[in-house]
Amino acid sequence: MDRRELLRRLAAAGSAPFFLPLAARADASDAPDSWQADFEASTAPWKSGFATVAGDLPLTPATVRGRFPDAVAGTLYRVGPAGHDIGGQRYHHWFDGDGMAHRFVIEGREVRHQGRYVATAKRTRETRAGHRLIEGFGTAFAGSEPLSSPDDMNVANISMLPIGGDLLALWEGGSATRLDPRTLATRGLKTWRADLAGVPFSAHPKVDPDGTVWNFGVSASNGLLVLYEIAPDGALRRADARSVSDLPMIHDFAVTDRHLVFLMPPLVYDAARKQAGASFLDAHVWRPELGMRALVIDKKDWTRQQMLALPAGFLFHLGNAWEEQTASGAVIHVDYVRAPDASSLFTGTRDFMRGRYVRGAHAKLTVARLDLGTGRATQIEWPTQAEFPRIDPRRVGLRHRQVIHAAEPIDGRPLWSAVARTDVESGASQHFRYGPQALVEEHVFVPDGERPGWVLGTALDYAQGRTVLSCFAADALADGPVAQATLPYALPLGLHGTFVAA
Ligand SMILES: [Fe+2]
Repeated sequence: MDRRELLRRLAAAGSAPFFLPLAARADASDAPDSWQADFEASTAPWKSGFATVAGDLPLTPATVRGRFPDAVAGTLYRVGPAGHDIGGQRYHHWFDGDGMAHRFVIEGREVRHQGRYVATAKRTRETRAGHRLIEGFGTAFAGSEPLSSPDDMNVANISMLPIGGDLLALWEGGSATRLDPRTLATRGLKTWRADLAGVPFSAHPKVDPDGTVWNFGVSASNGLLVLYEIAPDGALRRADARSVSDLPMIHDFAVTDRHLVFLMPPLVYDAARKQAGASFLDAHVWRPELGMRALVIDKKDWTRQQMLALPAGFLFHLGNAWEEQTASGAVIHVDYVRAPDASSLFTGTRDFMRGRYVRGAHAKLTVARLDLGTGRATQIEWPTQAEFPRIDPRRVGLRHRQVIHAAEPIDGRPLWSAVARTDVESGASQHFRYGPQALVEEHVFVPDGERPGWVLGTALDYAQGRTVLSCFAADALADGPVAQATLPYALPLGLHGTFVAA
């Protein structure tokens, strides 16, 4: 592909030629379906985790037990889907809901919480109309409006990145959305460069120890992997696109000090399925014959890349990557959360929306070794079931041992019951199991100088109808929380967050 063609396709990535209005289809009618009624009729005790929040939540004090350490004085920002239905129509996937931004303001014995919907174009227009207008990631319906840009369906509900005076609410199919970090008010879409308006910017950027931000975006219909390098002050240094054959859904990546590392599960977009009326999610096909491809790109020269092969598997998230020089060349160690297939994306995360539990394939912490000298990739899988891996942010791209993650799924209910810390080199793991009626969300690592640091995260206690923020000593997780803040209400289950020290 020559340069001009690449630029043309990059520009096209900011528009949405593959999202055509659907012809009327028997299985994608705009007539009310049963999902809302199913959810209302569900007797699942945990269904508050997928309930819609009626509106913004003003800054509200929590009840605090213990004292949050000085190192965690600051704000934990989180985001997640919170608007799961409109006009009596419920989305068909957990990831479709309108994003609500959260801030937990932590000061010793005081914690306050605020929740505010991101005022995306989609939410603003649909709220005004009183009914859905535009399809979601996993929900297609006849009568959905044609899109002029992926941002027409942007729900800003996956992750957060504070940068350049903005708090970015991240989605992955289009632009980041700029928020005011103090009020969570929506400032508008982030456009890194005029020709990148609407071009996908994924939800898991990586921040080097020097503050450099790396990210990517997948333009499925164009087969383009877009790469971004951003200065610590938020100025774009570089953006470009690489053409990748059979480009799959990629949710997360990793960086070393020298490379960008993409593990590409064989879940590949099929434009014909989309044209035939499938949702964006259902337009993806599981093609295990492709295996899990590991694409390694030189940070300095994006034309230098290498592809290695791992057994087919699926992942959402990676913990970290680092590399060492050996006699045969560079070796990259990368840990990720591997499931044998993508079934959980198509079943479990979908059926929650009607208050049903479907057991999906459990994901385990896995460490891959990518030998760039020999071109050979191998991996070991630890027995630890995991999701939402997080590391000490000071170790991004450098050798690390400890990964903080959610753990211990329980059959019959969503998500996890414990928070754990696992040594990726030995597999040794310690955990804290919350009460029997808690659903554990992402926990982040908060550094504390040379000390072991802290683990900070939320859980939904669905029996009490409360969301609880907990802080643990990172080297004594099993001892339980040193401080907990209980909100006077339950928040729907969210996705990712980030801690900003005061
Ligand atoms: Fe994620």
